[in-house]
Amino acid sequence: MNSTELTAALEWRYATKKFDAVKKIAASDWKALEASLVLSPSSYGLQPWTFFVVENPELRSKLKPVSWNQTQITDASHLVVLASKEKITEADVAAFMKLNADVRGMPMEMLEGYQSAIIGDLVKGPRSAMIETWAQRQTYIAMGFIMEAAAMLKIDTCALEGLDPVAYDDILGLKGSGFKTVAAVALGYRHADDKYAHAKKVRYPTEQVVQYR
Ligand SMILES: Cc1cc2nc3c(=O)[nH]c(=O)nc-3n(C[C@H](O)[C@H](O)[C@H](O)COP(=O)(O)O)c2cc1C
Repeated sequence: MNSTELTAALEWRYATKKFDAVKKIAASDWKALEASLVLSPSSYGLQPWTFFVVENPELRSKLKPVSWNQTQITDASHLVVLASKEKITEADVAAFMKLNADVRGMPMEMLEGYQSAIIGDLVKGPRSAMIETWAQRQTYIAMGFIMEAAAMLKIDTCALEGLDPVAYDDILGLKGSGFKTVAAVALGYRHADDKYAHAKKVRYPTEQVVQYR
């Protein structure tokens, strides 16, 4: 993909209000979109998230009324609920160090500095007081990643913050799991009738929002 194609894909993307409930994302495309979530970057690489792909139509029907009755919840091909960790413990950091050691074939001792830096910051440092917000921020990066990846594949999306996260946690059985709903993304194909597809983009001028110093 060249730069012209990238800009065209980003202009093509819009917050899809009405999905075509008949059109489904092909399995191979879905695998790539799933990978875009897994490959999203996060602070220290900690990945404080779980992505719930809600396939069960009954669950989708239950989620709709607690999502301002937005039709994307039931009509989109795929619905991803992004959840983030409620807290980061020393055990979480130790588990992540073990993963690093295993994947990169490193002795755990080599990771001790990294481990204590994370603990000193997120577990015991001042940022531990805002760890839920920190984890939610990381999760929003994954939201951006999957939306942009989808646009490159000409797959439509709608980010959804218009939902009741506590009701989501209840319906999806997240209570006590250590994860809480942050937001959702609906993915699939726009309905031919969705008038928003033709609406002009409303953006402040580039010179205003991107400044060079
Ligand atoms: C985090 C986030 C939450 C959003 N929540 C909703 C939502 O609940 N329902 C909806 O229809 N659009 C939602 N949107 C879409 C925005 O309204 C839309 O992205 C914005 O107006 C810009 O329009 P565009 O995406 O079509 O360029 C959300 C967007 C973001 C980034």
